[in-house]
Amino acid sequence: MLNDKKILFSGMQATGNLTLGNYLGALKNWVTISDEYETFYSVVDMHSITVRQDPAELRKRARTLLTLYIAAGLDPEKNCIYYQSHVSGHAELAWILNCFTYMGELNRMTQFKDKAAKHADNINAGLFTYPVLMAADILLYQTDVVPVGVDQMQHLELTRDIAQRFNSIYGDVFTIPEAYIGKVGAKIMSLQDPSKKMSKSDENVNASIYLMDDPDTIIRKFKRAVTDSEACVRYSEEQPGIKNLLDIYCACTGKTPAEAEKEFEGKGYGDFKLAVGESVVGVLKPLQDRFHDLTKNKDYIDGVIKNNSEKANYFATKTLRKVQKKVGFPERIR
Ligand code: TYM
Repeated sequence: MLNDKKILFSGMQATGNLTLGNYLGALKNWVTISDEYETFYSVVDMHSITVRQDPAELRKRARTLLTLYIAAGLDPEKNCIYYQSHVSGHAELAWILNCFTYMGELNRMTQFKDKAAKHADNINAGLFTYPVLMAADILLYQTDVVPVGVDQMQHLELTRDIAQRFNSIYGDVFTIPEAYIGKVGAKIMSLQDPSKKMSKSDENVNASIYLMDDPDTIIRKFKRAVTDSEACVRYSEEQPGIKNLLDIYCACTGKTPAEAEKEFEGKGYGDFKLAVGESVVGVLKPLQDRFHDLTKNKDYIDGVIKNNSEKANYFATKTLRKVQKKVGFPERIR
């Protein structure tokens, strides 16, 4: 524990364009709860290369993502915002944890199965051991809390299992982390197929709202969103399209589903969709404006990158040395 505050770690991949799902499921919660914790927010660029990347594009996206963290409201003086690849402890701990993780456990990971199906020509070992690197990310900082969307729960459970296994052999080395799932927005679905999660990699651009979409595009995508023929705005599993739009609306306005149902009683889907679109524009437009301002200030962003990677390295090394000693690596001679 640092400053008596509990520790929070989370990260996002610098792959594809961030969606409203990433924002409402993760980033928005990060901003809301960060004051209560000592926080580490990583741009997990090492995870990104489990799928083939264009190097220049990856570098650009990583910087965009780091800037977006700040634009969303995370103060880099108070939150350690850094690139995963700048802290070698992630890879070093991942190697050790690989030796405490079973093939059977990794075989059960649904994200691996999905990605392997999608990238059948490149099912590399990194894609398979991806959850171990994620466990290393979290355990490296003695993390108490990990705010994520629902889709990351299986990885988090595995992280806890690995930590418990390690602790049962070597004593209390790792803090056992808990997931933090927001009350609303934990699983935002595709606007074109509400049985699928909204995803950066969806081929249909109308299925996802991207954080950088301009207001007209956002409104247009909501107008095209799939609904149903019930003609009533109700928060129900039987109306998955409407439920998803209500989740988005509630996450953006702070209203409860019951309040929102009441507000749209007797109104048509056209009015409802427009209101949802406007609520999203209301949240994303200020974020986009701050992002554009920040990109003009290269020195400031460079300073954040430098200072925070030093801070992250300092804390990561503390855990890493402890773990290396426990497993029996020889001590360093100074
Ligand atoms: P990634 O980059 O796919 O997603 C980043 C965060 O966004 C959440 N999310 C969603 N939430 C609600 N609705 C959606 N449609 C939606 N899509 C994505 C994700 O749950 C996640 O919180 N493996 C992780 C990155 C990672 C990580 C970590 C996270 C690496 N190491 C350590 C936490 C702790 C991933 O690929 O997230």
